[in-house]
Amino acid sequence: MASLPTLEDLGDVAGKRVLVRTDFNVPMEGPDDARVIVDDFRIRAALPTIEWLTSRGAHVVCATHLGRPKGAVVDKYSVAPLRERLGSLAPGVELMENLRFHPGEEGNDPEFVAQIMQGIDMYVNDAFGAAHRAHASIVGPPQTVPSAAGRLLQREVEILSGLRDRPKRPFVAVLGGAKVSDKLGVIESLLNVVDSLVIGGGMCFTFLAAKGYPIGDSLCEKDQIDVCRGLLESGRTIHLPDDIVGLDASGNYATFGVRLPDGAKGLDIGPGSAAAFSDVIMDARTVFWNGPMGMFEDERFASGTRTVAEAMAATKAFTVVGGGDSAAALAQFKLDDDVDHVSTGGGASLELLELGDLPGLQALRGAPNAQ
Ligand code: 3PG
Repeated sequence: MASLPTLEDLGDVAGKRVLVRTDFNVPMEGPDDARVIVDDFRIRAALPTIEWLTSRGAHVVCATHLGRPKGAVVDKYSVAPLRERLGSLAPGVELMENLRFHPGEEGNDPEFVAQIMQGIDMYVNDAFGAAHRAHASIVGPPQTVPSAAGRLLQREVEILSGLRDRPKRPFVAVLGGAKVSDKLGVIESLLNVVDSLVIGGGMCFTFLAAKGYPIGDSLCEKDQIDVCRGLLESGRTIHLPDDIVGLDASGNYATFGVRLPDGAKGLDIGPGSAAAFSDVIMDARTVFWNGPMGMFEDERFASGTRTVAEAMAATKAFTVVGGGDSAAALAQFKLDDDVDHVSTGGGASLELLELGDLPGLQALRGAPNAQ
């Protein structure tokens, strides 16, 4: 596979207008016309690339999506608050309006590519979190101008491809979150590379159901039970919780084994399982974690996720956390500085682990300046 062109492959950038596709899809809150940024991690993560370019005399124009406005102008998804934050972090750098206000972005319309590329001399993709989307601003520009992977994209790809291709063993993947079906592809491919898989979060109940346990009213994807049974019978090491915390049929906090009575709902792994998962993480040399172990936003159901986060921080293993909710959990527990890599991509990190490539990377390898 050809290597990704990097910033150095752009040649002289002085005086050039460079479009930097970023992923500034950051969490926001507040009324629609006065939204504030909750966490600017993704904006700060793009600064090394922006500064590399501006310090060499390039004029940088950033472009991002924000939310899913589906091709229409939706006030609450205006990038105005991002523009202000970017302006304070990187003065003089422009930010285009939300790319997804135009249907051509998600539709990968060549006319929209031409529109955003007007007056642009070079293109840099630093939007790792969106590199799994074959959208106009991700796959279009490298067909027309010299292009490169930004520093963030480059580092994410190196780390995640390294996990996939040459992990130090034992390699453990810890998966949580609500839906098995969202992660089935990655579970199947991870089973080929990891030494063991740890499963918690809402998705564990479909696995527990596949083992024949009653799971009460817990989340369950009935159409995935057979697939989960097949995975459990594949002979690979899959750790499931053996105690559960949740609400009983009357809505009171309760602890259970793996058999949940009718009307009960599992909302976190129990302390025994959290301790066992922690041991697996401590004994590993590489750990990838994606997805919380329970409904950690509610303090009553945060313990499982906190214990896993603490083990991620304490283990000597090389630790990678894949985006979204698990990164938010780490930040909530103030442990985000204690893991080796927090990926800016949720879906993108899973898809790169699963498939080994992404549309945005393929596009860069096809750029006119790529080797
Ligand atoms: C993300 O938040 O994972 C990325 O910004 C991609 O967003 P999307 O899932 O709306 O394409």
